[in-house]
This record gives sequence, structure tokens and C-alpha cells, in this order.
Amino acid sequence: MNKEKIEEGNLEQIIREIAALQTLEEIKEELAKNTKFFANNGYFVEKILQSKGVERAKYYLDRLLDSLTEIKTNGVNDINLNRWTDYHDILTDSLWNFEKRDRSGNHLGWYWGNFVPQIPRQLILRYTKKNDWVLDPFMGSGTTLIECKMQGRNALGIELNRDIVTKAKERIESQKSSENVQVLIECADSTSSDFSKLIDQTNFPGFQLAILHPPYHDIIRFSDNKADLSNALDTESFISSLKKVITNSKKVLRPNGIMAIVIGDKYSDSKLEPLGFLVMNAAVEDGLILKSIVVKNYDNTKGKRNQENLWRYRALVGGFYIFKHEYIFIFQNSLERKIKKK
Ligand SMILES: C[S@@+](CC[C@H](N)C(=O)[O-])C[C@H]1O[C@@H](n2cnc3c(N)ncnc32)[C@H](O)[C@@H]1O
Repeated sequence: MNKEKIEEGNLEQIIREIAALQTLEEIKEELAKNTKFFANNGYFVEKILQSKGVERAKYYLDRLLDSLTEIKTNGVNDINLNRWTDYHDILTDSLWNFEKRDRSGNHLGWYWGNFVPQIPRQLILRYTKKNDWVLDPFMGSGTTLIECKMQGRNALGIELNRDIVTKAKERIESQKSSENVQVLIECADSTSSDFSKLIDQTNFPGFQLAILHPPYHDIIRFSDNKADLSNALDTESFISSLKKVITNSKKVLRPNGIMAIVIGDKYSDSKLEPLGFLVMNAAVEDGLILKSIVVKNYDNTKGKRNQENLWRYRALVGGFYIFKHEYIFIFQNSLERKIKKK
């Protein structure tokens, strides 16, 4: 609730006075005079001005009052549903198009193969509350963990490559947070780790959200380590290793927790390997419930930058399309089903 704004125009008082008026004409007239105070509440104001009866107008005046005085959430996140029209930056469409990488806070984008901070930000804001726990078993440069600190969430990040852990740690630890959150970083193999053992906490509530951003098989080789998923011998062994990480992550998710897997497809031997859909099936086989498939625009990796013409020529020769998208698969651990009473 924006207290300043209410004091500025004494909005509550104004709304109550308008609601006490008798006729629709009076309500609309009085509201129209005060619209400047309702800059953030355009939706309700419009509904009132469009109302054809006094009861309808009063219903929307009530809603407008609620939006200023009460907080209503879906219990999963901190979005105040009474002010849902204010959350312009929260995406609800399945197509995400980010023109630029966000560079706020400690987000530098130095790591080849990182994702844009907007991905974890959207997921964190939709699927967690302040002080919830977020898991990232492919931490890389720690984009998720930096974002967790910025949004006031606790986090555990696991990364196989020790050099990357050392570099990422510095950026993550120096990120300021408005909340007193914990951010834990481990150098380990996520295919064979018991994540619950990495959290040294009594009464640990479980992870509300797991964000998995694995290598897209061998598109970028992240290290020479055999346990590195980018060194999997073929698509089958890549999917089977990733499945282990999915299973390990699922074990520590809260019953209704969310798992998001960010992945793109690849071409190999003149055919498309649909890594995204293979992973999606693997997760569903593991008992996760698919909630959404988001398609996100995908910019050229450093390897392909400045080679657009070459790739276009190759695409024309080979009859394929150049990847411009990747997926964010969103799963829920289990859905609470309402038991019907007979
Ligand atoms: C696509 S990157 C993740 C980038 C990260 N989202 C960021 O923004 O920096 C995948 C990461 O997974 C790591 N990785 C590969 N196999 C792993 C494994 N078995 N256990 C843990 N990390 C692994 C790689 O070293 C790499 O840093």
C-alpha cells in the first residue's frame, strides 16, 4: 500500500464521500473531478465511469477502496491482487521478449552461457514470497543468487566448476539486500548431490522454487570435467544426467513448489535435437506437473555474434531455421486437488 499517495489526496476519505452520494450522475461527476488522485487506479476509475447503474458504480468504488486499504495475495507470492493493475513489469504472457539484458545491481553478464537476470526475476516474483528459499543447481555466474538477494529471497547455488564458483562468489556476496537473507554457494556435482545436506538449518522449510539452467548439451563446453553435463556423450546421456538433477531438486522442493527449466534446442548431424521437449518429458515422467511453456527470445551467443550472414547462408543451404528462441518450462511439484464432498 502506498501510504504517501493516500495521504497526498486523502484518497480513502474521497472515495468514502463519493460512495455516500445517491445518484450515478453525482458519483461520476465527483469522481471525474478527482481523477488526478487516482493515476494508479485507472482500471477501477474507468469501470466506475462506465457503470450503467449506481449499484455497479458502488461495487467498483468498494473494490477501489479495497485496493488501497487491504492486501490480498494468492498465498504463493507477494503480489497484492487488490492492486493487480500496478504490476506492469510482471509478465503473464507465454512469449518473453527482452530487448536488453538488465544490468542493475551486481549483474554484469560476464559469463559465457549465463541467462538474463529478467528470467530469474520474473520467476522469483511470480512463485515466491520474501524470505522463501530458491535453489539453482547450475549456478554458473550466480545470476539467480544475485537476483535473490535483490528481491529478498534466500538461495542455494551449486556449481561444478571451482574457478567459476570463486569468481561468482565475490559478485554474489557483495550484492546488497534489503532483507536479512542467506545465500549459500557450493561447489559440487548436482547429479549426485543430496541438496538437503547442503543446508545447515533446523526447521528448513524446503525450497519454494528451483531454477534449472543446464548446459544446452554441448553447445557450450563449460569444462573438461566428466560430470559436466556439457560433456555428456550423446543426447540420451545428457537427458539422463539432467533427469538426475531434476530428481534431486524435486526431493527438496516444497509439496507445491515450482521448478523452472530454462533450455534451448540444438542441431546435430543435420537434424534438430529437441532438447527442450525431451527434458520436458523427462520432468513429467518424474511426476512434475507441467504448468506453462514460455518461449523467450534468444540472442546470438558470443560464438555466433557478427556471423549473421554466414548463418543465414548456411540456413538457406541446409533448409533449417536459426534458433531465436529458448524455453522456460514451468512445473509444479504437485497440485493440491480440491476433494469434492459427496
Ligand atoms: C548454462 S550455465 C548456467 C548459467 C547461469 N544461469 C548464469 O546465469 O550464470 C550451466 C552451468 O552448469 C554447470 N554444470 C554443468 N554440469 C554440472 C553439474 N553436474 N553439476 C553442477 N553444475 C554443473 C556449468 O559449469 C555451467 O556453469
